[in-house]
Amino acid sequence: MRVTAKNLSHAFQDDHWLFRDLSFTVESGEMVALTGPSGSGKSTLLGIIAGWIKPTRGTSELVGISRVGWVFQNPHGVARRSALDHVIQPMLAAGAPRREAIKKALDILSSFGLDRVAHEQFHQLSGGEAQRLMLARSLASKPDLLLIDEPTAQLDASSSLTVIAAMGVLAKSGMLVMVATHDTRTRDACHRSIELSEH
Ligand SMILES: Nc1ncnc2c1ncn2[C@@H]1O[C@H](COP(=O)(O)OP(=O)(O)OP(=O)(O)O)[C@@H](O)[C@H]1O
Ligand SMILES: [Mg+2]
Repeated sequence: MRVTAKNLSHAFQDDHWLFRDLSFTVESGEMVALTGPSGSGKSTLLGIIAGWIKPTRGTSELVGISRVGWVFQNPHGVARRSALDHVIQPMLAAGAPRREAIKKALDILSSFGLDRVAHEQFHQLSGGEAQRLMLARSLASKPDLLLIDEPTAQLDASSSLTVIAAMGVLAKSGMLVMVATHDTRTRDACHRSIELSEH
């Protein structure tokens, strides 16, 4: 599985290029940061990779990837559903028996440090817990490629560290993880980074 971008350039308006001539290949198991100042086109590049935005020039190709998952900057869950429900839902949707899904979900929640809040409702979770829950749910739905937009922007240092550790768990499971961020700790935790302002 891989993502290959060749000579990508994008401008929403004539001659206002966000980035130019960007080429890279990312393989499964890799966790790669997309970095650059606000407005440099990180979220746009995620959209191009996901296929929602057509680049002005160049190509982005997904090879051997059939499922693409997305974790947005603001975690959105169902307010009155429990954390556990959020994680079992993709497994039930994939046809797993309920008992098995619950057992697996509890394991996943615990690997993200969320066992204590498994039965709390989504609206009772802290920002960092909600963000980790979105990552836990991604693990349960097993995408081949996971696109994450600014997972730590609104978190304090210790919550950021737990979210960063959670992303590492996903990459180790063989997923290809790409994360847009301006947080240097998140960038440093990735295998490598692609800097948009240099293009
Ligand atoms: N659909 C659109 N139409 C026109 N301009 C857009 C559109 N989407 C984004 N832009 C502009 O393109 C630029 C890049 O936006 P983008 O959201 O990709 O930046 P970013 O690097 O993710 O920024 P941030 O760090 O603030 O999230 C911004 O100036 C934005 O206003
Ligand atoms: Mg953005």
